Amino acid sequence: MNKRKGIKRIGVFTSGGDAPGMNAAVRSVTRAAIANKIEVYGIRRGYQGMIEGDFVRLRSSDVSGILQQGGTFLQTARSKDFRTEEGREMAYENLLKFEIDAVVVIGGDGSFTGALIFSKEFDIPFVGIPGTIDNDMYGTDYTIGYDTALNTVVQAVDKIKDTASSHGRIFFVEVMGREAGALALKAGVACGAEVTFIPELQTEEEELNRFLNKGFKNKKRSGIIMIAEGDKAGGAFKIAEKVQKEHPEIDVRVSILGHMQRGGSPTAVDRVAATLMGVASIEALLDDQKSIMIGLQNEKIVHVPLTKVVKLNRDIDNELVRVQKVINSAN
Ligand code: F6P
Repeated sequence: MNKRKGIKRIGVFTSGGDAPGMNAAVRSVTRAAIANKIEVYGIRRGYQGMIEGDFVRLRSSDVSGILQQGGTFLQTARSKDFRTEEGREMAYENLLKFEIDAVVVIGGDGSFTGALIFSKEFDIPFVGIPGTIDNDMYGTDYTIGYDTALNTVVQAVDKIKDTASSHGRIFFVEVMGREAGALALKAGVACGAEVTFIPELQTEEEELNRFLNKGFKNKKRSGIIMIAEGDKAGGAFKIAEKVQKEHPEIDVRVSILGHMQRGGSPTAVDRVAATLMGVASIEALLDDQKSIMIGLQNEKIVHVPLTKVVKLNRDIDNELVRVQKVINSAN
């Protein structure tokens, strides 16, 4: 193995939307680095902190007790300054000043695009760990935070269903996913939604009409319609308004789950994924890898070039779409 001898100190940061399990990933990166005699600096507030020189030394004890905490103790940001050449130059100066030899970035698509641009301009290895509740990244079955968010949605919708069935109402529940429907789709199946609206599909209105005109009228007296916030039909309020106009006899309500989906203690699945990926990121750097994302495919660690991750889209799970239709066609 071609071990990189030059890495004595790394930087680690979280970037983009926070996701449960990011702390677990920072802990894993830090401890795996220290176990390999590498010093660690945490960079606060993502790329913005890199530009402003907001670096903090992380020792093993600094990452104690964070495994189970939601959010990110390093904080996060979507840095506008990093989009400028000047900003990236300042960030590089700070990496030089703190003698950082390599960087681990925990975040989503936008964060990896930044990493790719930066590592083309400056000679410093970057390794990415996918952290977003959206689970929308090419090359990995799984992004840190997704499982926790999914369980949060399921718990919330189970409660909403109590009211839906007690009052005989249809609830339009909006979940996060500006550009991606993975969370809505899986939550829809897990919650027994009648229809799930996602940005990647455009056939849901037909399904909804079928439910309203047949399933709801004939047998069911309540229902959940799951909607990803970025759906082309325009979000939960718009869809609900249209249904209310066309069916004034139906009792309709809207529930936007919002940022509660991003918080909370990570599930065991997220903690384990974060820990596996954290260790793998350090091992990849030691193995002279750069500009890659650590992914999980069939529960095994893989290395995916960042160029592919930022260029390619992840396909939706068509089996979930099909199965939801089969279940609901019985109504
Ligand atoms: O990328 C994660 C995500 O939660 C999206 O699903 C959502 O659209 C977006 O972030 C909202 O982010 P914010 O409110 O932090 O701008």
